[in-house]
Amino acid sequence: MDAKLKEALNEQVKNELYSAYLYLSMAAYCDGKNLPGFAHWLKVQAKEEVGHAMKIFDFIVDVGEQVILKAIDQPPTDFSSPTEVFEKTLEHEKKVTSMINNLVKLAKQADDNPTLFMLQWFVNEQVEEEKNAAYILETLKTIKEAGPALIMLDKELGKREG
Ligand code: FEO
Repeated sequence: MDAKLKEALNEQVKNELYSAYLYLSMAAYCDGKNLPGFAHWLKVQAKEEVGHAMKIFDFIVDVGEQVILKAIDQPPTDFSSPTEVFEKTLEHEKKVTSMINNLVKLAKQADDNPTLFMLQWFVNEQVEEEKNAAYILETLKTIKEAGPALIMLDKELGKREG
């Protein structure tokens, strides 16, 4: 495998594990604020991120290379509100999307089709990741601006059949 691409894939294993760490830290904050539902969502998200790291980890192994694990930075531990948690989540996912796009660029330059194919899953996943974070953030903003009743009405209208 191309040396630069291999280094970047190893780096992404760490980046995905950092994402898990970040969401777990946000979960700890929400647990501390008596918001177990938010904490649950973030803990599930943290598990997903470990899954992302393992996808790349296993791919590196499958192509006969060695995984080199790097040090994971300490995530932020304090947030001003659940809204800030999801602002930071969306911001972080946008950053991850650009990391994935950079990996795609490197794989194209190296003419590495297996890596490009593997990365395609991440390209699609990032669309979901940004969408989910943006949805929660926008909902929090709506609650703040229009009150929770609008969200309840929206859920009600969403149940219409036919
Ligand atoms: Fe691994 Fe949230 O992207």
